[in-house]
Amino acid sequence: MEISGTALAFYGLGAGVVAASLVALRRRLLLSKAKHPSLNGHARMARRIASLVPFYEYDERRFFCSDNAPAKIAALRRDGFMRLSALYASRFGETARLTAQAAGAISDLQFTQAYRVPFQYSRLVREHLRSGAFMQSSDGVMLIDLDGNRFYDLGGSYGINLLGYDCYKGTMERGLARVRELGAVLGPYHPVIADNVKRLTRISGLDEVSFHMSGTEAVMQAVRLARYHTGRSHLVRFCGAYHGWWGDVQPGIGNPLPARETYTLKDASEDSLRVLRTRRNIACVLVNPSQALHPNAGPPADSSLVDGARRTGFDREAYADWLRRLRAVCTQRNIVLIFDEIFVGFRLALGGAQEYFGVRADLVTYGKTVGGGFPIGVICGRRDLMKRFRDDRPADICFARGTFNSHPVVMGAMNEFLQLLDTPEVLALYRDLDERWDARAKRLNARLRDEFLPVRVANMSSIWTVCYTRPSRYNWMLQYYLRAEGLALSWIGTGRLIFSLNYSDSDFEAVADRFVAAARAMERDGWWWCDPSATNRSIRRDILKEMIAHRFGRVARKPGIDHQD
Ligand SMILES: Cc1ncc(COP(=O)(O)O)c(C=O)c1O
Repeated sequence: MEISGTALAFYGLGAGVVAASLVALRRRLLLSKAKHPSLNGHARMARRIASLVPFYEYDERRFFCSDNAPAKIAALRRDGFMRLSALYASRFGETARLTAQAAGAISDLQFTQAYRVPFQYSRLVREHLRSGAFMQSSDGVMLIDLDGNRFYDLGGSYGINLLGYDCYKGTMERGLARVRELGAVLGPYHPVIADNVKRLTRISGLDEVSFHMSGTEAVMQAVRLARYHTGRSHLVRFCGAYHGWWGDVQPGIGNPLPARETYTLKDASEDSLRVLRTRRNIACVLVNPSQALHPNAGPPADSSLVDGARRTGFDREAYADWLRRLRAVCTQRNIVLIFDEIFVGFRLALGGAQEYFGVRADLVTYGKTVGGGFPIGVICGRRDLMKRFRDDRPADICFARGTFNSHPVVMGAMNEFLQLLDTPEVLALYRDLDERWDARAKRLNARLRDEFLPVRVANMSSIWTVCYTRPSRYNWMLQYYLRAEGLALSWIGTGRLIFSLNYSDSDFEAVADRFVAAARAMERDGWWWCDPSATNRSIRRDILKEMIAHRFGRVARKPGIDHQD
């Protein structure tokens, strides 16, 4: 039988199409395999599910027994809650008054107040435990509110407070003094910038620097540069990692639009490396090294602490090994490796995460503390990647400007901060840093264990999180007991404690005493009672049932649940 040339061409084309489809199918399967099974790993699904979650809340009766605790326990909890409420009213009166007055016109404050605890409990907590959102002053490791109460600061101002607040008062003041003569001249640089660049290139081991106004903007520009130089569209971020609030790096809940050019892959997984090896559209990989404390989980906030399932898994050597393997694949595939050190830079080591984990990135973003107390975002990078134009194609540029970039006051304070890093006092803080903070965590955990309290801390150096050993619905209450003991947390509560390095042993012992006292009081007030058959899974299942019941209008038969349609 004779086969015509046309038929041959047709078969050839068909075989080509089948082969291409198989390759595409394989790549698609590899991508699916590289997604973390949690909702954090499935941004689109997470957004869809979030849009279905109905609002409902517990009334005053159910609030204290949402886990079906016996009446005796519910009464204990109520008494404890009312005692705390009275204490808050008497102790935080002025701070709470100004907060209530201002909150109506501060949308950010309304948001953070509403999301301190799981939404089912939020209203009653806001009504009774008004602590306030204002502080008057800082002193050493303490914050002082409008009523004169002194708190040990465990919030760390989102990580800015590395060396202690007094230190930043100094860098801010001296920074301003150094540039006063120039004032708010923007465009031309103050000469101090030259020294900043010299120091930052030395610290980062990279060739060039650009300055931005916030960490979010530095990340935006780093990704833009990677896209410009590789000619590829997609960025890879790892499940749970925060990189600021720009849409492309926040593909899930919180962003009204889907991020179409973002892949969210499993952290520390060979499956993710396979995707990097097989896709040709990946411009860069973003790594937030603080994820090493809780790979694949989002920033741990008390608003989602409906059970005791918060887990950590810090293993420095294992994470370093993962970064080395990631580095090798990025090099092989010409993918830009970006370390987002906006939070951990300067905190883990003088040379940041690159030094701590022993892995070099192509671009590194810094922020927070490096502004010496003022707003900042910085990129340090390889010369070829930092370039924003092409010599041979003058109209093909990568634009990035910003009115306040390189503001003289910020540059002055940054210089004061960077100079401090060379002083013997600050160098001493970095000596045996992990040993010091690990020992503190160990001591506190031993005390909690000895008293049979169902709380533990886990840490990566001075970045801590609180975990719970019992499957309770009320673990988020601890933040209110901690405040009553004079410990100030950020709005995400016990999910993240950030210590400044100037905490002395005696400061820390005072914090530990108060922490244990708070946990004791919470235990005494019955919040950690739990049904012996309860598990974290059964709690989540019960909550899901409540949501479904509410969603489909069957709540009327469930006593104790207030609902609004
Ligand atoms: C790792 C990381 N990247 C980016 C950002 C965003 O920085 P900024 O809040 O200055 O925009 C943050 C802020 O918390 C961060 O922790």
